[in-house]
Amino acid sequence: ASSEPGVPVVGQWEHRFCRLADTFQSVLDRVYEFEVREDDVWIVTLPKCGTTWMQELSWLVLNNCDFDTAKSVDLTIRSPFLEFNGVVPNVPHDTIEAANALSSPRLIKSHLPAWLLPRQVWTKKPKIIYVYRNPKDAAISYFHHWRGMVGYQGTKADFMHSFIDGYVNFTPCWPHVLDFWQLRHRDHIYFTSYERMKTQLDEVIKDVAHFLQRPVSVEQRQQMIQHLSFESMRDNPACNHAKEFESMKAAAGREVEEFRFVRRGVVGSHKDEMTADVIREFDLWSDINLREYKLHIDDFA
Ligand code: A3P
Repeated sequence: ASSEPGVPVVGQWEHRFCRLADTFQSVLDRVYEFEVREDDVWIVTLPKCGTTWMQELSWLVLNNCDFDTAKSVDLTIRSPFLEFNGVVPNVPHDTIEAANALSSPRLIKSHLPAWLLPRQVWTKKPKIIYVYRNPKDAAISYFHHWRGMVGYQGTKADFMHSFIDGYVNFTPCWPHVLDFWQLRHRDHIYFTSYERMKTQLDEVIKDVAHFLQRPVSVEQRQQMIQHLSFESMRDNPACNHAKEFESMKAAAGREVEEFRFVRRGVVGSHKDEMTADVIREFDLWSDINLREYKLHIDDFA
């Protein structure tokens, strides 16, 4: 792919490895050949980095703050998760067909690393919003997701090591982030962070509105901040993934721990959910991964 015009070649693609479950692997060819539209908007993230939050924000910006639809039509319909085909039990839903059928401008979610995205992403240059989150908090959030949604029964420590070692879906983490970090100055790419959304949501809304060239009034921004608050998203069945959890629970055929997708919503959840040893391991792993780029973890937030 790197010989095609517009496809980044400046060394970003050096880590061509990505851990994917069979269900994701089975759609990779279809994803790679997916027909991209120039006016698409893509939300690309590692899991648990604030994807849903940014999808909801961007959908509102793209749709003139249509709060009624946002509250009544499930976000997974408004903004399909491209490679999530056949993952939710009992839901015979072809996510790629669903994306094909959406009218423009489409808002598409993907967790794939840059080099596995549809090749037309680099030639048609749709707008891409990338959301980074501190990997320690993302890993903790991912652990809860795996327990609640997938039925993971291993220990937290094992999960944390699997995250660091690149054994969970869509990892390794740092190459995923670094590819987009290096592409962040391209006109069609906007790079932001969960941490920034937490502290400067109003600014992020303004940035996204500017990036997508969809003006949002002061009043609309105020309404958005309310709609996008942790409590409001947690209690909004159209975007809190509660239906997905119910399907997973029904398919599991056993007791499943209660789980809320919009779970805790804080910066620094690792501080009271990770042991000091694991925190040290994460910090060392980040330093090693960032050293050759002369970057520090604080550069991303
Ligand atoms: P926690 O598990 O740390 O609470 P994703 O959508 O990428 O899977 O990310 C899920 C994470 O984003 C969860 O983190 C979830 O609580 C958090 N989140 C979702 N909506 C949020 C909001 N409105 N405010 C703050 N955090 C939010």
